[in-house]
Amino acid sequence: MNISVVGGTGYVGLTVAVCLANKGHLVFCVGRNEEKVSKINRGIPLIYEENLEKLLKDALEKKKLVATTNLKDAVEKSDVSFVCVGTQSMEDGSINLRQIEGASVGIGEALREKEGYHVVTVKSTVVPGTTKDLVIPVLERFSGKKAGVDFGVCMAPEFLREGRAINDFLFPKDTGIVIGELDARSGSLLLRIFKGFDGEVLRTSLGCAEMIKYARNAYLAKDVSFANEIANICQKMGVDYLEVKKGMELDSRIGKGRFLDAGVGFGGSCFPKDVHALVKKSVQMDVKPRMLEAALKVNEEQPFIAVKLIKQVLGDVKGKRIAVLGTAFKPGTDDMREAPSIKIVNALLSEGAEVSVYDPVALGNAKRIFGDKVLYEERVEKALNKADGCVIVTEWAEFAEPSIYGNMQGKVIIDGRRILNPKKLPPGFRYHAVGFSNVVET
Ligand code: UGA
Repeated sequence: MNISVVGGTGYVGLTVAVCLANKGHLVFCVGRNEEKVSKINRGIPLIYEENLEKLLKDALEKKKLVATTNLKDAVEKSDVSFVCVGTQSMEDGSINLRQIEGASVGIGEALREKEGYHVVTVKSTVVPGTTKDLVIPVLERFSGKKAGVDFGVCMAPEFLREGRAINDFLFPKDTGIVIGELDARSGSLLLRIFKGFDGEVLRTSLGCAEMIKYARNAYLAKDVSFANEIANICQKMGVDYLEVKKGMELDSRIGKGRFLDAGVGFGGSCFPKDVHALVKKSVQMDVKPRMLEAALKVNEEQPFIAVKLIKQVLGDVKGKRIAVLGTAFKPGTDDMREAPSIKIVNALLSEGAEVSVYDPVALGNAKRIFGDKVLYEERVEKALNKADGCVIVTEWAEFAEPSIYGNMQGKVIIDGRRILNPKKLPPGFRYHAVGFSNVVET
């Protein structure tokens, strides 16, 4: 099949494009920025995602992927277009649908002259009603054609986790495939793309598909905030949350692998944005989203727990050098959108600390955010050597390796993710962690 991916230079779009190209489809990766498009055509992805660069290069070599700024041409040549543009939050937390509208205008214009059936598929996360009330009317207006008659419309939310996006797309066994369809013809054509994928398929309405995405992210975000709240209570009560979590997981109704890792809070481009958007939409419709609001409230404050812990061990941090280990919102990505590291670094700076940061892949983004306010270290040992204390903010595997702390000057470790076993540290360290009652002296 020939497929256009509109918003094909971003996280979701590029992943979708590269994966579909590797499945043998001819993919037009549509972006607006010439420079980004040209980089993609040269095999340079603009984001860090495991395996992305290799798969992009393979697809280019096999001539299965072309990046372009020409939306009209791409849509004219394709059977399906995926809308993968960003839906960032507005100042008030509500969803910004400007790019969705823009993409719909462009696709609509292209459909005007296109011969043959084409299915427009919204993949961006949008609040329920957007496909029906915004995308379809815009497509119809600019194409002069009728949805469900002249062209098809689907809403197929993505369930990709950054850092594992390629794997999640190609092997949807754990996430399933949700296809919201305007009519059976639209859904059936889209389903052909996912033929042979190992994942249960749910065919449903456009609105349900939109809501499924929000409900899933809100559910998981609420679990993280729940874990953090219990961990904060454990800390005060002299109880170890890690043990509590193990005990909770023994109950098969809770189970292992849930989002119950306590830490410095959730970040990224999805949980915060989606929960805010759902809250805003609910309030507009006169529904009080109490649980969702509570999940956000816990999360807003959670990064400061790490700052509190370091002050508890070190006392005043003024004039002291604190190494922040990890700036990405989670491992496996260089993404720093809504990352807890931002709040932690800024809080430490406002307390007068000198901050050095290290991240294996996100330093470029860190530099754009923190500018010259912090020191950047290319090696973790360098960040640690001169530090009076450190805070583990992102659970990169290398931070769980006790030997990296060997030459640390200050020998104070705050584990914001509970990844380090203090028993394995050399003597002389003071270790404190989220959801852990005592300072451990090694
Ligand atoms: C999330 C969902 O997991 C995906 O299914 C969804 O497709 C995606 O959003 C999206 O909407 O596009 P992602 O944001 O990449 O994926 O990352 P997650 O692995 O879900 O983690 C989100 C945040 O929660 C991270 O900051 C992570 O550190 C935090 N988290 C997660 C915890 O603090 N504790 C946990 O137990 C799990």
